[in-house]
Amino acid sequence: MGKGNIKVLITILICWLILANATRTKASINTQPMKLTDEASIENVMKSLTIDEKVQLVIGAGYPGPNGVAGSTRSIPRLGIPSIILSDGPAGVRIGGLFAGAPPRIATAFPIPSLLSATWDVKQMQKVAKTMGKEAREYGVDVLLAPGVNIQRDPLGGRNFEYYSEDPFLTGSMATEFIRTVQETGVGTSIKHYAANNQETNRTKINAVVSKRALREIYLPAFEMAVKQAKPWTVMSAYNAVNGVFATQNRTILTGILRDEWGFDGLVMSDWWAVKNPVAALEAGNDLIMPGDYRGPLPMPELGKELYTKSSAPSPELLKAAIQDGILSKEALDSSVRNLLKLIIKTPTFKGEYKNVDYQTKTTLSKKTAKKGARVNREVASEGMVLMKNEKKSLPFKGVKKIGVAGENAVVDLAQSKLGIIIGGGGSAEVNVDPKNVVSLVQGLKNADYAVVDSINGKKVIEGLSKNEAVNLAKNTDIGLVFIGRQSTEGADRPDMSMKPVEIQLIKDLSEAYHAEGKKLVVVLNIGAPIEVANWSDYADSILLAWQPGQEGGNAIADVLSGRVNPSGKLPVTFPVKYSDVPSYGNFPGDTVNNVVHYTEGIYVGYRYYDTKKINPAYPFGHGLSYTDFAYSNLKLSSAKYLLSKNEPLSISIEVTNIGPVSGKEVVQLYIHDQNSKLERPFKELKGFKKIFLKPGQTKKVTFAIDKRALSAFDDKLNKWIAEPGKFTVLIGSSSQDIKQEAEFMGVGKDVN
Ligand code: GLC
Repeated sequence: MGKGNIKVLITILICWLILANATRTKASINTQPMKLTDEASIENVMKSLTIDEKVQLVIGAGYPGPNGVAGSTRSIPRLGIPSIILSDGPAGVRIGGLFAGAPPRIATAFPIPSLLSATWDVKQMQKVAKTMGKEAREYGVDVLLAPGVNIQRDPLGGRNFEYYSEDPFLTGSMATEFIRTVQETGVGTSIKHYAANNQETNRTKINAVVSKRALREIYLPAFEMAVKQAKPWTVMSAYNAVNGVFATQNRTILTGILRDEWGFDGLVMSDWWAVKNPVAALEAGNDLIMPGDYRGPLPMPELGKELYTKSSAPSPELLKAAIQDGILSKEALDSSVRNLLKLIIKTPTFKGEYKNVDYQTKTTLSKKTAKKGARVNREVASEGMVLMKNEKKSLPFKGVKKIGVAGENAVVDLAQSKLGIIIGGGGSAEVNVDPKNVVSLVQGLKNADYAVVDSINGKKVIEGLSKNEAVNLAKNTDIGLVFIGRQSTEGADRPDMSMKPVEIQLIKDLSEAYHAEGKKLVVVLNIGAPIEVANWSDYADSILLAWQPGQEGGNAIADVLSGRVNPSGKLPVTFPVKYSDVPSYGNFPGDTVNNVVHYTEGIYVGYRYYDTKKINPAYPFGHGLSYTDFAYSNLKLSSAKYLLSKNEPLSISIEVTNIGPVSGKEVVQLYIHDQNSKLERPFKELKGFKKIFLKPGQTKKVTFAIDKRALSAFDDKLNKWIAEPGKFTVLIGSSSQDIKQEAEFMGVGKDVN
């Protein structure tokens, strides 16, 4: 080989060496793990994650979470994966103390969700959701574990206060606005509890047996509406089983319906300790097993195949063994990890927005935030209160200076944690407030410059008054007020919806005493769910449903009673005459020995039942009075025909006039009745609502647009929504039973969806 050739070879060798070295350097750069930076980095991070890391990520970091929150996820620092913070709840940010016994984090206790839906006004929901989102940010929360959208199937449901309504359309509409608005603040939400979680009795074991039609038309639509219209970052799977399969491992609802049909692309987390079998949960589409530690009756599992088919505690070791044994698929694990990474990159923690949050010592909101929260609480609370009865316009107060207040619920005794008002419900929806921020009924009346003679007269009226005391109170005051309270909580259903005989006696005695003086008696209900009213309402001139109105409750009640605010709330739930009228009567809470509850009433829940079966309630769904009056006129439809083969909107308009003496708000409700369906259907179903403000004499035109889904029923044989041809009636009302105008149209052609 000549010298020239050798030179060429050496040159080639040198070039190769330089290239190889460069490549190796590049490779060595690439061997640095790819950090999680954004959506585009996820696949590389997935490749970098070891199996040990993956099985860590899908299990929460334990309860309680850091600094007292409900929970958090695990971090993988080498890949830039932070732990994110999950905190309750639907009525305000709920964070405990830094350690057991340490002071909890104070936040605004907003009104209970039932009051929010009683506003029938998404604008009020937006105000609360925006303020709550900001409070969540102040405490460094990434996902707010709310809203709860389970249907109030039975008035004794322990968490009904925490839910919105007996109707899925009202529930879905309010939840959608809550989710959209909270997420606009940059905080995620967790719509819960998916699905058919409608009782507290044996909630972690009970099997809800629900017809496909009832599931589709009653228990799922609120989730469906919110998932499609507001895209919640997460969904929380429920404790109970649905038709024999625990919700946390129910592939039909978690993957088949939620993801494949509705297009949900977020993360599913379980309720706390709800997962019975972590392998089955991951395979079904439950991505994150919360809270991560183990608390259950089951023995701590040894590793081993046979255990995967039984209930077993979540642990990374168990999941790793399940992967190695081929019991848990890599695809299922990867899908869950991927969903978690997609969630994490959305969070303020990941974006570095919480760098200055003082998780350790912060126990109060900033003054500005706290002031805003209190203001929003007071405004929204008065918008959701429902004037159920108002004989001869006894309210608002006229010429009233002194008010006689009776009832043990009005007692303020901080030593016995009696706040003189019930501000919210119990359990994970409870908010930690500073008692001095709570405005009791009596304080609220005094703040409004009323003198209050409370029946306590310095002594603790535990229950009731003597006739004499009643007469004295009536003689020495201008009007009487009985304050009835009821508490309810997560973890237990209510025993009954009865009034105590001594409460009825108190109302009766005071009614007689005040009427003897030519004066009035008002009853204010401080409750989270319906109670019996028919057996005493005749004694009361007016009844105001104040719900559990949050920490500003006393001021909000005074605002309505005084007329500073004209009440405009409407019932989101029926008040039946008696419990035995309730459609689920006899099937709630079900067979608690065999842990099965049959939803035998099917689609006939709430007003769908009372209307159709013609059972008169004490106060119907959608009912609520005002200090003014409204007239309805000129109901018009954009067409007398609706082509079922299309999905074009049918426009509906109605004019509403304030014919009374003061400004006020009216909730115009739109119901649809299907006259000819082959499928049996409820007599009417809510398909639209709008709240409008009108000055005296003012008229506004309200318009609705309904689509084919609003005419449809779910045909469980065809397994789809179908609108049948035939005559439909549009009913426009001020309540489900106070229908003001009707109009008919024909559904023509064939629904070919
Ligand atoms: C509770 C509740 C759920 C809550 C979670 C965390 O058991 O069912 O609504 O978000 O645990 O506190």
